[in-house]
Amino acid sequence: MTVEQYESLLADHADMRAVTLDADETPADRNRIVQLAPDHPGFRDLEYRARRNRIAQLALSYRAGQEIPDAPYTREEDEVWRAVWQALGPAHQAHACSEYLECVERLAFAPDRIPQLREVNQKVRAISGFRLEPVAGLVEPRVFLESLATGTFLCTQYIRHHSTPLYTPEPDVVHEIVGHAVTLASSRLAGLNRLFGQAVKRTSSLEALNRLSRVYWFTIEFGVLRENGVLKAYGTGLLSSAGELEEMHDAELRPLDLEAASRQEYDPTRFQPVLFCADSFETMYESLRAFLLAW
Ligand SMILES: [Fe+2]
Repeated sequence: MTVEQYESLLADHADMRAVTLDADETPADRNRIVQLAPDHPGFRDLEYRARRNRIAQLALSYRAGQEIPDAPYTREEDEVWRAVWQALGPAHQAHACSEYLECVERLAFAPDRIPQLREVNQKVRAISGFRLEPVAGLVEPRVFLESLATGTFLCTQYIRHHSTPLYTPEPDVVHEIVGHAVTLASSRLAGLNRLFGQAVKRTSSLEALNRLSRVYWFTIEFGVLRENGVLKAYGTGLLSSAGELEEMHDAELRPLDLEAASRQEYDPTRFQPVLFCADSFETMYESLRAFLLAW
């Protein structure tokens, strides 16, 4: 791969939700006020920042069980969704596992506009019972993971800045919907998410929580498996970025060993150099399920 190709792939890299805790991290509010770093693509766009704040406000005044209010996306933002979908459609056909492809068909998104969480929520709930709930921004890892126990997925609603349709420095509605919501339309993947939440609830030490977070990272976010001998993705961080899907073929593949994954460090801001690969979807499902039940 040339340097240019590598850089264009990296531009498509989405920095996924960092799920591990820093040892010195203090418990934060469930919702944080929108503060963009000076190098954020939307930092200088006052309209974008105002919209981000309005969308955050929707989440802050949201109460569990209410219908999710629609976000005020602009035409430019719908264009972002179209660009993402154009890149991801072929990438999914080539690199996504069949369980995922079936779910995408079930959810049947319009290709030309951002689906509202309200609509996606209705479809996912009918299939697996999982509920999406809007949050204003990144959530403390324990809160995020524990909410899975009761079938709740805490979901950002804003979309990346339109100047960088294939790049986001933070999880946005593309990652949440194309990655997580789609996989939650699989009853088996939804079941594993619930088991993660329940395992986190039984976890008290920070060290154990970090281990479990790493297992989440190397399975739910960045899991790969073989289907008829071909490498395929079931991880949401891979499935929501065409660049990640290309790049996963260059990763060092290790056999799926959840004990080893729980001790494997990772850097969420780069392509993943190491991935854990299951022999099949069934092997992944059974071993992860057994691991979480025994946790
Ligand atoms: Fe994620």
